[in-house]
Amino acid sequence: MLTFKKNISEILAHTIADQFGSAILTAGDICSMLEYPPDGTMGDLALPCFKLSKVLKTAPPKIAQSLYGAFAGHENLCSAEVQGGYLNIRISPAYLIQSVLAKIENDGEMYGSSREGEGKTVVLDYASPNIAKPFHIGHLGTTVIGHSLKLLHQFAGYKCVGINHLGDWGTQFGKLIVAYRKWGSREKIESGEIDALVELYVKFHAEAEKDDSLNQAARDEFKKLEDGDPDNTALWKWFIDLSNREYEITFRQLGITFDSYAGESFYIDKMPEQVEKLREKNLLTVDNGASLVDLSAYNMPPCLILKSDGSTLYPTRDIAAAVYRKRTYDFDKCIYVTSAGQSLYFAQLFKVIELMGYDWYDRLIHVPYGTVSIGGEKLATRTGNVVLLKDLFAQAIDKVRGRIEEKNPGLADKDAVAEAVGVGAVVFHYLYNSRIKDINFVMEDALSFEGNTGPYAQYTYARTCSVLEKAGAVPEAEEKITAPEEAEVLKVLSRFPEKVQTALAEYEPSVITRYIIDLCTAFNRFYHNCPILSAADVSVRATRLRITRASGTVIKTALGLICLRTPEKI
Ligand code: ARG
Repeated sequence: MLTFKKNISEILAHTIADQFGSAILTAGDICSMLEYPPDGTMGDLALPCFKLSKVLKTAPPKIAQSLYGAFAGHENLCSAEVQGGYLNIRISPAYLIQSVLAKIENDGEMYGSSREGEGKTVVLDYASPNIAKPFHIGHLGTTVIGHSLKLLHQFAGYKCVGINHLGDWGTQFGKLIVAYRKWGSREKIESGEIDALVELYVKFHAEAEKDDSLNQAARDEFKKLEDGDPDNTALWKWFIDLSNREYEITFRQLGITFDSYAGESFYIDKMPEQVEKLREKNLLTVDNGASLVDLSAYNMPPCLILKSDGSTLYPTRDIAAAVYRKRTYDFDKCIYVTSAGQSLYFAQLFKVIELMGYDWYDRLIHVPYGTVSIGGEKLATRTGNVVLLKDLFAQAIDKVRGRIEEKNPGLADKDAVAEAVGVGAVVFHYLYNSRIKDINFVMEDALSFEGNTGPYAQYTYARTCSVLEKAGAVPEAEEKITAPEEAEVLKVLSRFPEKVQTALAEYEPSVITRYIIDLCTAFNRFYHNCPILSAADVSVRATRLRITRASGTVIKTALGLICLRTPEKI
């Protein structure tokens, strides 16, 4: 569609220049005026001519009439029709076959990719759980939006560096150390792993409500850790190991690996240089012993850099991290994916980096997302009211496994398929909404084989595989489009490259998720209404098999871009 739109714009721009003697409108201007009619019966693309009438000083229906003739001789591309002030344009079947189908066959799984990012590096900071706190459903957003954005950037030719900016430093370690020494035991933690750590964390908060001295004790233990105390350091390392082991299980289920695991503690020795720079630039104000950057001129609360005891904070580490990343990767963009709760924080951070004189501050991008609740309940780590991601995945996998046993007990690789479909269902359901929306997660909806779900899309892919398997080779024959359902699938396929670009420009994986549903819907309509294997005419059969194959290719690529696997049999 992208090239189709471009071709049409060029022809129209030419005609306008010819007929109106005006070169005011470029092909680009025309391209931005072209619309997709909501109802396919009106055409595939429309030019609302009232948008031109002011510039061309002519009434819209007259403009439409004059431009109508532009397409004579372009029957291979489209046909046109005038309807009042609209010029409606319809893609020709020849174009759909030669430009769309042939291109997909030629590009295969690279169809839709581009070289936009060639020579550029993008750093993506995502997932980034806080060690020893639970990896819960609230982290689903950063993890899958972040990874999908990485895959989309790679698809557009960028070199990508995915960083798991682990929250492995900060006062929570002071809390855990206090809690562990008071109420924990090594055996219990070794056997219960992260759950036992989370229990300690929750207990600490409950007890500290009653006894404030615990908070001071936690600050003291963290300070000791910062100063290199060997006992605290050993405990800290142990907590990190336990947590990482657990995260890895979830990341593996999602098919995610990172290029760097440099967490907050990685920047301990890189902070002094930045604190010094803040001082040099006269940006630090001392308030009650703490050092901060006053941002009142920008209508924002101050950004804390050092606590009164001299220990560092989350923003201190983020400043050092941004500078380190710029120096190490020379990024074109550095993207941070976190919940919208941190939007103000990132605005403050980016402002401080700008004030420090780093001229790349405008290449730092915060991509926020909304909250997730389950059954309408908000989640909070401190009270222990959380749904762990691993439990959510386990539940989904279990349900899918049961369904396979019931419906397809002879299936090979049942465990792998159940994992791909179960985890995929959760991810798909989550990524179906635009990221900023708050969502309420309902497992039954996610797992349904009908409707706009991951299992439905994966099942459609498996259906394409099964048709092709039964067909054997796709025969060589002249192509022939005979049904509107065939043309519709090809039109949807033609839009994929454009969808990839939109998803990238808006940092919005849901554009791909929704596209997958459009494609699956068009494919299934075609599948149900047009006999494929039993088509009598050789050309019709061959063309339908090619459409099936192209649909499978694009469903697979698109699902891959949102972190879903595509088993060939379900
Ligand atoms: N660990 C943080 C959290 O769980 C997210 C880190 C985001 N990245 C960053 N560079 N601050 O809230």
